[in-house]
Amino acid sequence: MPRFPDSPTSALIHAASKGGKQYDKRSADAEHRSTRRGQVTREDLEGPYPGPLDTDSSALETFSTPEYDADHGPSEGVEQDPTPHDPTQPGPGQRWSTWRSVAKGQRGPDPLPEWVVTRDAAIDTELGILKTGKEADAFLVERAVPPGADASSDGGPDLALDQAATRCLLVAKRYRSLEHGQFHRGSEYTEGRTVRRTRDQRAMEDRKSAWGRAVSATQWADAEFVALREAWSAGAPVPYPVQIDGTEVLMEFIGTEETDDLGRTQAVAAPRLTRVRPSDDLLESYWEQLTHGMSVLARLGFAHGDLSPYNILADGERLVIIDLPQVVDLAANPFSSDVLLRDCRTVCDWFTARGLDVDADALFADLLAQAF
Ligand SMILES: Nc1ncnc2c1ncn2[C@@H]1O[C@H](COP(=O)(O)OP(=O)(O)OP(=O)(O)O)[C@@H](O)[C@H]1O
Ligand SMILES: [Mg+2]
Repeated sequence: MPRFPDSPTSALIHAASKGGKQYDKRSADAEHRSTRRGQVTREDLEGPYPGPLDTDSSALETFSTPEYDADHGPSEGVEQDPTPHDPTQPGPGQRWSTWRSVAKGQRGPDPLPEWVVTRDAAIDTELGILKTGKEADAFLVERAVPPGADASSDGGPDLALDQAATRCLLVAKRYRSLEHGQFHRGSEYTEGRTVRRTRDQRAMEDRKSAWGRAVSATQWADAEFVALREAWSAGAPVPYPVQIDGTEVLMEFIGTEETDDLGRTQAVAAPRLTRVRPSDDLLESYWEQLTHGMSVLARLGFAHGDLSPYNILADGERLVIIDLPQVVDLAANPFSSDVLLRDCRTVCDWFTARGLDVDADALFADLLAQAF
């Protein structure tokens, strides 16, 4: 996976308004030219939601920077770097789009959504960190064809050039090797899963070996990508999985972009379900969307395995289920019933607390019936 050279660590601004995470974003160039303005703040999470697995109360680290100009120009007042940088080449915090560098099987399923940028001239710009987690970090990445890029040398995109998207926002979820991460998901999840290469299997068992740690991180990324791919293809409300490259999964960014009167663009990530207070109608709609998503997963033979309001995003009226590396095989995993029941109880607790009369045991029975 090509890394982002000299990636700026401070490219986003967070505001707790609108129940979402809010970011100002700007080009890496402008970022590079400027001095860091703000300081790290901590998100006031509402405390760990009851649930044995999602014990994450780790704070969201956020950063503030000067504003971003949507046309990739430096914002007013930002000091100019005298060294000109060719905007059609990757600069600091950027890399060439990795779309073409991964094999077809490592890209998302067909039909490819129109918004996915596939052109070779596209540059990935790391805009900053969305969240640091126990096992992986989620980054916001812009994939865009810079103005002035030479279309004629842009060999063979999947869509006709004139129709092809030129800019999209992605989330890069990067798994850490055991050395850096704290993998708490053990054999309970992987039971019944086949590991393709016995060499990998042996390496994973040898957690002391660097290879074993690396394989393990790759396996979790792989598992999440495959689960997203199958779930998306079957119609479950999950982010579109754009591609996988080693320990990095690139997926659809769930959220919105807003431009203020001064032309500054902000990316606002959809809030987690824990943070929203939906109206009665919306609550009911959320319930229907969630149970539909769980049913799709059950029919595929999966339980999410870590389903909680922390792993469900409320994107306006739409619910999106995220964080699927630990999906459990309902048929092959001897613990699968326990895991599915726990998922049902955790989400039902949240809906019940919001005033909807739902029954975890009934949901569990219904999902099991659909799975077998
Ligand atoms: N596709 C996405 N669009 C917008 N935000 C996202 C997306 N994926 C992840 N996030 C944000 O990043 C956070 C962490 O993502 P995720 O739950 O997948 O990772 P994780 O490392 O497993 O986290 P945790 O350990 O907290 O469960 C999410 O809670 C959400 O706020
Ligand atoms: Mg999560």
